[in-house]
Amino acid sequence: MAYRDVYADWQADPESFWLREAEKIDWIRMPSKAFFDQGPAGEWFADGILNACWNAVDRHVEAGRGEQVAIIHDSPITGTHQTLTYSELLQNVARLAGALRERGIAKGDRVIIYMPMVPEALTAMLACARLGAIHSVVFGGFAAQELAVRIDDATPKAIIAASCGIEPGRIIAYKPLIDKAIELARHKPEFCVILQREQQPAEMIKGRDLDWNGFQQDATPAECVPVEGNHPSYVLYTSGTTGQPKGVVRDSGGHLVALNWTMKNIYGIDAGDVFWAASDVGWVVGHSYICYGPLVAGATTVVFEGKPVGTPDPAAFWRVIQNNKVKSFFTAPTAIRAVKREDPKAELLAEYDLSSLQALFLAGERADGDTLIWAEEALKLPVIDHWWQTETGWPVAANPLGLELLPMKKGSPTVIMPGYDVQVLDEGGQPVGPGTLGAVAIRLPLPPGTLPTLWNAEDRFRRAYLQHFPGFYETGDAGYVDEDGYLYIMARTDDVINVAGHRLSTGAMEDVLSHHPAVAECAVIGVADDLKGQMPLGFLCLKKGANDNHDSIVREVVAMVRDQIGPVAAFKTACVVDRLPKTRSGKILRATMAKIADGEEFKVPATIDDPAILDEIAVVLRQAGYPRG
Ligand code: COA
Ligand code: AMP
Repeated sequence: MAYRDVYADWQADPESFWLREAEKIDWIRMPSKAFFDQGPAGEWFADGILNACWNAVDRHVEAGRGEQVAIIHDSPITGTHQTLTYSELLQNVARLAGALRERGIAKGDRVIIYMPMVPEALTAMLACARLGAIHSVVFGGFAAQELAVRIDDATPKAIIAASCGIEPGRIIAYKPLIDKAIELARHKPEFCVILQREQQPAEMIKGRDLDWNGFQQDATPAECVPVEGNHPSYVLYTSGTTGQPKGVVRDSGGHLVALNWTMKNIYGIDAGDVFWAASDVGWVVGHSYICYGPLVAGATTVVFEGKPVGTPDPAAFWRVIQNNKVKSFFTAPTAIRAVKREDPKAELLAEYDLSSLQALFLAGERADGDTLIWAEEALKLPVIDHWWQTETGWPVAANPLGLELLPMKKGSPTVIMPGYDVQVLDEGGQPVGPGTLGAVAIRLPLPPGTLPTLWNAEDRFRRAYLQHFPGFYETGDAGYVDEDGYLYIMARTDDVINVAGHRLSTGAMEDVLSHHPAVAECAVIGVADDLKGQMPLGFLCLKKGANDNHDSIVREVVAMVRDQIGPVAAFKTACVVDRLPKTRSGKILRATMAKIADGEEFKVPATIDDPAILDEIAVVLRQAGYPRG
């Protein structure tokens, strides 16, 4: 069926559409219906019974594909390459689950996973799923303080971690970060399981820390624990407007049904194919398309421990595709920009056999035209921009390669996927016409696999997503739909910024800056960056009598953000200003400041308190070298 027919089919009868899709995964008890009008925004397959690990692992072994490779660990940073068949994965997962069960981990318990890109990270996620325990993976680039915030919110019984992660040129010892996070957190996990890596083994705390191998040595493998379709499978924290991250909840049934649909229909992947998402297990892309999606579909997933450039060269992507016969490849535009910068004529790419590859998928940030064109010309394949969020868990807009490759339009992630009724709304919540910019919203209910709520924060869920436009989910993105139904995503409507495909909260950075003793007031904005898309830039108003060595204050706040949020924030610079531009009601005009920094046209907001401050900001920015280029 062509895309339009499938979308119309879903629209005509969503209930039958999703029940049909539900039949493609294994249930212990089939749900009696698809949609349940319960919870703050509805739930899916709530009375079905299943197990996510069974669907991702066991059922493929049962179906006779135990010898097929499930996971390829391609790690240029350690110089290793390792494969794991579905049978081996099953053994590893069942053993780890057994050991966790013996230590008291049971259905509904939370387990934090803090690991680099090693296959054991997937084993840990799946072992939790096997027991019905709820995992929460925290990205390795976050500092101890951020980990502590997540420990306090998720209140995990255990932490599963590795002793270290490896970044180009340096080893990140994870264990001291975990120790510090546990010290900072009010909640104390009962035990930690540590995968010792030879690059930097960790010192263990007796009675609390257990060695990954020793811990499971004599464990009895655990069977899959049946859970309800609406049982939370994981909580993944993502940045909101405030410093407190949002714990996005994912259910068990809808999650698998939706991902399974996307593997075939969007990514064109069948059982036995090799799929590679070059992201990290700490992000939603890692959850959906390194772990659960490819495995539920019975495909082979690549766990890549390296960077697009520097491990050792900008041909890393092409080498991995060639050597592992990758069929569909997914990364962020920033990674392609990094490659393009070092190999502008794609000369290295020409040395590799990429005949296995059918398409490149891009998401995580806006795909700029130059990058798209460069990749298309270099690969001579479809380069598919698609749009989604941690909250949705799978693409809202895409070019559904597996169904039909639609004509591309530059700047558009193409069309809306079945399950989603996207509307562009004006401030009053009324749909606007084609070509008119507005808030991108999704009519409720959201489809299976999207967030049913926020962990421990149902009120915040309602306030953040449902309140502004009653009857809709507010995405936080602004954009428009053209006459042909193609969606264009233009910007965020909130203070979230996107740095190298990583979603970051300017509010969280402001929280850190405001704790510097010399800072009276501050703001953080995202400014355009050729490589990372956006980079954070701080503005500091200093207290009277503060040290007038501004450089040292800036150095200190930069170090504070790195120390408290983590290197991933990429907060490198700040400007000292006398005053911040505000509305008469006191709201800082961050968007206007960002336009000045980027050298874009802007309208002086009608509500501005003192327009002269904008001129002062422009002068400071010019002195600091903005706009760039
Ligand atoms: N553990 C510890 N530190 C980490 C880390 C991790 N897992 N991941 C990144 N960091 C550190 C980096 O070492 C870097 O530190 P530095 O300031 O000392 O250089 C900092 O966090 C910023 O990292 P990153 O955003 O990765 O920038 P980079 O300059 O190292 O590399 C790119 C730039 C474009 C190559 C890189 O961002 C990239 O590969 N991006 C892909 C984006 C992606 O996968 N997004 C996920 C959503 S699809
Ligand atoms: P995250 O939750 O980290 O996946 O970030 C989601 C946000 O990233 C979206 O709300 C958008 O602002 C942005 N984003 C993701 N993919 C795209 C895309 N293809 N085009 C434009 N913006 C995107």
